[in-house]
Amino acid sequence: MRNTAISKMLNIQYPIIQGGLQGLGTSPLVSAVSNAGGLGLITAGSFSSKEEMMKDIEEARRLTSKPFGVNIAIGIRKPMDEFVEGAIEARVPAVFTSGNNPEKYMESLKANGIKVIHVVPSVRFAKKAESIGCDAVVVVGYECGGHPGRDDVTSLTLIQKAVAELSIPVIAAGGFSTGKSALAAFALGAQGVQMGTRFLASKEVNLHKSIKDKLKDLQETDTILVKKSIGKTMRVMKTERAIELLKKEEAGAALEDIFPYISGESYQKFINTGNENSGVISLGQTIGLINEIESAKDIIQDIVKEYELQLELLYKNY
Ligand SMILES: Cc1cc2nc3c(=O)[nH]c(=O)nc-3n(C[C@H](O)[C@H](O)[C@H](O)COP(=O)(O)O)c2cc1C
Repeated sequence: MRNTAISKMLNIQYPIIQGGLQGLGTSPLVSAVSNAGGLGLITAGSFSSKEEMMKDIEEARRLTSKPFGVNIAIGIRKPMDEFVEGAIEARVPAVFTSGNNPEKYMESLKANGIKVIHVVPSVRFAKKAESIGCDAVVVVGYECGGHPGRDDVTSLTLIQKAVAELSIPVIAAGGFSTGKSALAAFALGAQGVQMGTRFLASKEVNLHKSIKDKLKDLQETDTILVKKSIGKTMRVMKTERAIELLKKEEAGAALEDIFPYISGESYQKFINTGNENSGVISLGQTIGLINEIESAKDIIQDIVKEYELQLELLYKNY
């Protein structure tokens, strides 16, 4: 797989990034992705304090000598200031922000030589990120796991448009999980790919075994959009609990009625115990292409192999 502006910027072998994974983007997965030549992201939303995150960063450093970054979702839990301070103290090479405008953190991050890459679901927000000095953007399409924004535009259109309108590098996300799709991302003009759902289905991720086992059998139709009623649309695994939540929203339920379904606590319980009646979990449509739970190393090797093969086939068939 070729070197790109992103692999050079982040000093990694392959421009493949493990997206922020709340509760799951921790040292075992992050170090495995980085050891395999991609970029793992310690996910601040997995920790209740800066100290907790710093310990995990230390552990990740013990497990890998390769670069890894920190993902900070601004506005999921407030304040995130201490996690930004932690990333600076840890001198990670890159911080991936998401959720809200990272402007107030730009000066301190950049002054410390940290690359700031903002995750956006629209061209408008991508342009804003460029205007405040972000080094790159991750542009996430409608099919993604997690938050697809409000415009319902799929990756195929969104990524090309962002590449055409921006000068900074674009990392494609939302529906990318295979070598073929990574090749497609580069064909669209992206300089890297970020994957969430693919790394959710990995051996190293700290997700309860019963959910992991289930992931292998899910289809592309097994996700639904919830939380639209509170302006925070989220693509999640289609479970009974998620359907119940959607029905409540459609019936006009108040925030306090839907809170038990979406609280951080219920999510944590879900990923720890596998009890589907506790919370909902983000999941992208690309789960329909994932049939086994592999190590991060095998995932990245498979992606690279398929990418090379597909590239060769494309040339041959010309
Ligand atoms: C379980 C799960 C948790 C996520 N948590 C976060 C998070 O904490 N911060 C963030 O910026 N993105 C988060 N995301 C989004 C991913 O980083 C990534 O952008 C997205 O999954 C890309 O789409 P894909 O699922 O089609 O690969 C999460 C996604 C999943 C599946």
